[in-house]
Amino acid sequence: MKLPYAEPYKIKMVESIKRSTQDQRKKWIKEAHYNLFNLSSDKVFIDLLTDSGTGAMSDQQWAAMMSGDESYAGSQSFLKLKEVVNKITGFTYFLPTHQGRAAENVLFSAMVKEGDLVPGNSHFDTTKGHIEFRKASAIDCTIDEAFDTAILHPFKGNVNLEKLEKVFIENSKDKIPFVILTITCNSSGGQPVSMKNIKAVSKLCKSYDIPLFFDSARYAENAYFIKTREEGYQNKSIKEIVKECFSYGDGMTISAKKDGLVNMGGFIALNDEEIYKKATVFNIMFEGFLTYGGMNGRDMAALAVGLDEATEFDYLESRIEQVGYLGKKLVEFGVPVLQPFGGHAIFIDANKFVPTIPRDEYRAQALAIELYIIGGIRGVEIGTVLADRDPFTRKNRYPELELVRLAIPRRTYSQNHINYVAVALKNIFDTRNEAKSGYVIVDEAPIMRHFTVKFEKI
Ligand code: F0G
Repeated sequence: MKLPYAEPYKIKMVESIKRSTQDQRKKWIKEAHYNLFNLSSDKVFIDLLTDSGTGAMSDQQWAAMMSGDESYAGSQSFLKLKEVVNKITGFTYFLPTHQGRAAENVLFSAMVKEGDLVPGNSHFDTTKGHIEFRKASAIDCTIDEAFDTAILHPFKGNVNLEKLEKVFIENSKDKIPFVILTITCNSSGGQPVSMKNIKAVSKLCKSYDIPLFFDSARYAENAYFIKTREEGYQNKSIKEIVKECFSYGDGMTISAKKDGLVNMGGFIALNDEEIYKKATVFNIMFEGFLTYGGMNGRDMAALAVGLDEATEFDYLESRIEQVGYLGKKLVEFGVPVLQPFGGHAIFIDANKFVPTIPRDEYRAQALAIELYIIGGIRGVEIGTVLADRDPFTRKNRYPELELVRLAIPRRTYSQNHINYVAVALKNIFDTRNEAKSGYVIVDEAPIMRHFTVKFEKI
């Protein structure tokens, strides 16, 4: 019998989490106006809101924290991190930032201007936000298969090359500052991009003389999928795959809160000296001096270790297999989920799960609330609430998919927690036909409403 995967670590310290009753949770979620973002964490048993900055650091990372050099200029921790970033990504220039969107803010300040177009594969919200904030447009060139939850395509994060070339052909080069490739693609469900696609996008960009940048929040998970799904990569190490992947681009931004295995941090790494010089001005203005840019010395020290640990196969196998384990359990129970399973999260298809709840009553939100009430589990709605209103008509935008995302923090929850989540969902699924009504919005912000929106139960 093939031995199953097992975590390549053991537990040295534990953090208590609080159980509660369904009656308590019914009261708490009502008090929170049925918005899961409004719940204090002590009212949540298993928190799957995000995998961003919520993971556990290793003993080696904590040890590195103690040696953090907090010098304003020339910090040793910065120099060490710069060396590791260069070793892992191959990029020459490096600017630390306090998180991923800060890296976007700095880089885009240097590169994006009004009227520009930035093509990519389902840009993440903050990426899109920083593009649109500059009165430029994000053009989605993801392959069509990404938007069908049942198609088993191994690389649903891929770019459709024809869509991308069309943007290049129809617009002048000076309007396209760069292409951004998100690995893995969070917005299409934590789906990977193949090396073949990365290479082809890179070649196309080069032929039109347009730079290629990576949004690398989950770059190591992407490399794991390449190793396990793409021909020719089985015998390559994750570090070799990562290096090859970045060799096809001109630079990267990263939220280190994911595959940096730290609770806070981010950076920009790139090869072009001119862009680097421009970005340094904004880094100093928005983030901090070049040798800390919004991070503590100790956080940079922990990140240097985290980048190395995240690019080890054994860690990635247990990480991705744990997410897949939840997916498999749910499929066993008949729960409709996006497939193939994402690298960092399982996405439940609320259109198939609760079609009995009208779309204008926010069925994915209703499902996320039910999951909280039944199990004390916090996921997040990725559907109509998140899609916001049309800026002109002010009508709800109904996206193709209504999803509930269950993002799994790294090295944090046990297999028992995952079983608990799966059973809670099964119990809801078994009584799904009783769900007939959802929620009505009683208060919302003009933009990014999901964080503060208030609902009432219908
Ligand atoms: N890019 C991607 C692909 C992301 O998933 C995120 C964050 C960011 C950029 C921004 O990074 O949060 O450090 O500023 N994603 C989190 C999530 C918030 O829950 O998926 P940040």
